[in-house]
Amino acid sequence: MRVIRTLLSFAFVLLTNDLALALEYEKDIMPIFKKKCFECHSDEADKAKGGLRLDDPSHFYGRFDKDELVRPGDPKMSNLYYGLIRPRYDDGAMPPEKKGKQLTEEEIKLVRNWILEGAPINGERGKRGKIPEEEKEPSKTLPARAVEQEWVNQEGKIIVATFLRIDGEVVLLRVKGGKVFRYPIAKLSEKSQTALKKLAQ
Ligand code: HEC
Repeated sequence: MRVIRTLLSFAFVLLTNDLALALEYEKDIMPIFKKKCFECHSDEADKAKGGLRLDDPSHFYGRFDKDELVRPGDPKMSNLYYGLIRPRYDDGAMPPEKKGKQLTEEEIKLVRNWILEGAPINGERGKRGKIPEEEKEPSKTLPARAVEQEWVNQEGKIIVATFLRIDGEVVLLRVKGGKVFRYPIAKLSEKSQTALKKLAQ
């Protein structure tokens, strides 16, 4: 009995430690966005840009799936995260170049860890991800993937878009303006398919 009680209290300490570390959108992330994003993505804007409001947790949560904005547990698959780490000149960088201050490395790390922890928001929590060793330095990873590039299809038509991820037989590409297209991989030129394979590794 004693052993069990000791174990239980140990587990409790672990649990509460864990809770103390957990990031919450309203408490930890929203203040960052308030400083650097609300101007365009909240009540403060005449019309929220891209229809996205970051000051309203319920609305934001409802947008997680649209345009692959936030995938709880997986920053790499979260478009919002890419906006933060894109090169400043890139069209999809947030805040847009010359229109706002980029998040600091520390702030980017917080957003990333919040997504990794399952993007808890409004009392909801998704699946938890793991922090892969090689990704401990967020702003130094992924930029190659996070830029727009030209994709050519079998008919020679050029699509300028950013690679997001592969989903079975289709590739998810984000075009200017934020829209995400699902494009059949087989319809891409051989060269583009090779480029895709490299990115998807
Ligand atoms: C000066 C205005 C401005 C600021 C500041 C700004 N944005 Fe944006 N944002 C836009 C515009 C305009 C769009 C829509 C066009 C586009 O996607 O390029 C947009 C689109 C987005 C989208 C895509 C929405 C979708 O559904 O695809 C995300 C995510 C986003 N912003 C996140 C942020 C974050 C996070 C910040 C703060 C770090 C931020 N933005 C700061 C203007 C701004």
